[in-house]
Amino acid sequence: MSHVRLVNVTKRFGSVTAVDSLNMEIEKGECFSMLGPSGCGKTTTLRMVAGFEDLTDGEIHVGGRLISSPKKNYYLPPEKRDFGMVFQAFAVWPHLSVYENVAFPLRIRNLPAAEIEKRMKDALASTNLTGAANDSPADLSGGGKQRVALARALAINPDVMLLDEPLSSLDPHLREEMRFEIKDLQRKYGFSIIYVTHDQSEAMALSDRILVMKLGVVQQIDTPLEVYNNPANRFVFSFIGLSNFLELVRVGGRVVLAENRLTEDGLRRGTGIDLPPELVPGEAVRGAEAFSLASRPSEIDFLGAGESGLRGVVTRRAFLGEIVDYRVDVGGQEMRVQKGRRAPGPEAGEACVLRLNRPFWFAESAE
Ligand SMILES: Nc1ncnc2c1ncn2[C@@H]1O[C@H](COP(=O)(O)OP(=O)(O)OP(=O)(O)O)[C@@H](O)[C@H]1O
Ligand SMILES: [Mg+2]
Repeated sequence: MSHVRLVNVTKRFGSVTAVDSLNMEIEKGECFSMLGPSGCGKTTTLRMVAGFEDLTDGEIHVGGRLISSPKKNYYLPPEKRDFGMVFQAFAVWPHLSVYENVAFPLRIRNLPAAEIEKRMKDALASTNLTGAANDSPADLSGGGKQRVALARALAINPDVMLLDEPLSSLDPHLREEMRFEIKDLQRKYGFSIIYVTHDQSEAMALSDRILVMKLGVVQQIDTPLEVYNNPANRFVFSFIGLSNFLELVRVGGRVVLAENRLTEDGLRRGTGIDLPPELVPGEAVRGAEAFSLASRPSEIDFLGAGESGLRGVVTRRAFLGEIVDYRVDVGGQEMRVQKGRRAPGPEAGEACVLRLNRPFWFAESAE
């Protein structure tokens, strides 16, 4: 049975639908990430799970128990939900010591002193803060403050940990470090995590499953590997990893590259450049008139001049250390190619032929 279950959860703020009929189920002990661009409804969802925000419609259940339902007029207040929470901004009180910051939620729950002492010892040790118990959090680094917030969330022995961009104010090195620490804590304590981020590599690294959201609507829920390898649509493809899209149109029986710009009435015209036969799409987009061919920059090879492939001209070649990044003009559209620094490749200004090793076709073109 799922541990946290959202059924048709909807939240409207006036005329804005922040979350639209969201269904998701999180297993016990799972790390589940919500990923999507700014404003897509991630924080609003987390706040509804936490109990800080009413639902407009739908239900939330935890451990088989209803915790929110506007229809049944039922709402369990946040302090009774016992969820651990860490938010983006370092929400620590600078005038209290590290110890008192962590102990605060235990004190408001009126736990016995011995129990508070025991939980505090454990939470501080787990987050490497034992030696800093009497310090002011104001004197700690960003990572240190974030550890205080984590310790405070851990001390309440949560079944569910709600993390809203908890690492976004840290530098990249510390972020990677803290990801591992969060996973270690999860292994030790066994809580379920709902993790909100708009950083796709963070979501990939941490999660058992990822939900990708756009404008309040779920696009896909799957393992990181599936979301990467089998994206549900063009939006998911573009949001996870680097991506290239070539806009195409069907003209009579031919599939040709589209002109780079839309016409004044919002249509795409063909360029007259045929797509090589191996890239003409199959059944999935057969009915569509305008669609796109997608690929990852790392899944493209340079072929010899006489071979069949996409013909283009290298407009820019940039050395990025381990990889070389090429921009290639293909019939007026730009494609990005990335090769290892040891692989031979054309120079800027040279003509080239591209093979897409793993093409995707989407029956949608650029908006
Ligand atoms: N209290 C509020 N009143 C009115 N509109 C709100 C309120 N809270 C959120 N919204 C709107 O709901 C939508 C979703 O916002 P939300 O904060 O959930 O996005 P988000 O995915 O967390 O974005 P970000 O990545 O920027 O944190 C946005 O359009 C936002 O403007
Ligand atoms: Mg947010």
